[in-house]
Amino acid sequence: MKPLVIILAAGLGTRMKSGLAKALHPLAGRPLIQHVLNSAGHIEPEKIVLVLGHQADRVREAVKGYDTEIVLQHEQLGTGHAVRQAQEVIAKASGPVLILCADTPLLTARTLQTLVAVHQKNRAAVTLITAFAENPFGYGRVLRSKTGVKRIVEEKDATASQRKIKEVNAGIYCFDPRFLLASLERLSRNNAQGEYYLPDLIALAVKGKRKVAALPCDDPREVLGVNSRKDLSLAETIWRDRVNTSWMLAGVTLLDAATTFIGDQVQLGRDTTIYGNVRLEGKTKIGESCTVYPGSRIIDSTIGERVTVKDNCVIEESILGENATVGPFAHLRPASVIGSRARIGNFVEIKKSSIGEGSKANHLSYIGDATVGRDVNIGAGVITCNYDGFQKYQTVIEDEVFVGSDAQLVAPVRIGKGSVVAAGATITKDVPGDALAISRVPQTIRVGFPSLRRKLKNK
Ligand code: UD1
Ligand code: CA
Repeated sequence: MKPLVIILAAGLGTRMKSGLAKALHPLAGRPLIQHVLNSAGHIEPEKIVLVLGHQADRVREAVKGYDTEIVLQHEQLGTGHAVRQAQEVIAKASGPVLILCADTPLLTARTLQTLVAVHQKNRAAVTLITAFAENPFGYGRVLRSKTGVKRIVEEKDATASQRKIKEVNAGIYCFDPRFLLASLERLSRNNAQGEYYLPDLIALAVKGKRKVAALPCDDPREVLGVNSRKDLSLAETIWRDRVNTSWMLAGVTLLDAATTFIGDQVQLGRDTTIYGNVRLEGKTKIGESCTVYPGSRIIDSTIGERVTVKDNCVIEESILGENATVGPFAHLRPASVIGSRARIGNFVEIKKSSIGEGSKANHLSYIGDATVGRDVNIGAGVITCNYDGFQKYQTVIEDEVFVGSDAQLVAPVRIGKGSVVAAGATITKDVPGDALAISRVPQTIRVGFPSLRRKLKNK
């Protein structure tokens, strides 16, 4: 029988001190709740029910790509009360009911699978995940008797000696649906926070002589609950370490792994080397034997083999062919396609343009809305003037063109194959193939003028 999953996400997250509901705070670039949904999705549940309250519409928007059913908790009266909002769905469940929290994003699907397996093997009324925390502050503590877990006591209700217990409740449970349904009714608000505590169901199970099983989690980092910004930062570090370790095991060199961010949809080829302070985001794909030097951010881009990205580049939604070189300090804006062996140098901005094989724009240029052929040389400071304040226009530069430094190409304009645009030219009309285009005021020379000027000044 497939499990029913209920995810609690109605709380505001007071300790975050934020205008944004806690479930929406991003970890590794995606809202906390999506991490939990991703892990839950892996166990192929019967259904996923979300309990929403604070900013329900925004949370609903953040999860619209997932197949979930939403129930609302209008008043946040505690985790037990939150689960009660899903009573109707629980009543129809035939398999176990897994309860997860939106603020426990590092939990793996594997641990969830083990939880369900331990629960079924024990024929338990409830199985909970516990962990041994170095600093258990804020968590519910696990009180045990000789026979097993007796009850959970919350931080705010605990005595000084109970607070010393290091075994904590992870807030993740697997329930027998009938036990859950019958016991939710019996929760009281008689505690320090005046809330219906879900963990009180453990004591109710013990009282009713029902089986309580516990799964101690080997790695307490997996059940980290994000309650504050400090926890969020810690979660980010743990997540990063997890992802980066798997890339290193897959044959990628990370020279300063602690400062390299690799998103969970990124793909990297073997023998690629990534320096520190690099962020690889979205659906970025980098081929084999590439090097990305420090300080670059690459978003939703596809990079071929043996590409070099020098220091401090921003590359967005672009495609780079094999053996291309970009940077330092280059900006490739969306829809840029850089051909193989092409070189894009310092302070060059490229937008919605394609640059052919072996072409070069090495210094201080803006290339926007352009189609550049192969083996083109774009000199320092060349600008495509693509915008007249109303509309954008195209520039076409055919194969083997040489554009001299500081030329302006006023679009729409086409430079024919093999032509030369003279340095400093302002090109407003199409240039045919194999032609020299020059547009300058002829140079004049006046020998002796400066000394004459100096003489006049000193009079
Ligand atoms: C909870 C547990 C604690 C456990 C810890 C693990 C309770 C009473 N305590 O404490 O034993 O060690 O998690 O991280 O359950 N929520 C609702 N509606 C509510 C209240 C909470 O949906 O009325 C949701 C929150 O949005 C959050 C989750 O439940 O996603 C947990 O709530 P939180 O207030 O963070 O509980 P903790 O104090 O961390
Ligand atoms: Ca919490």
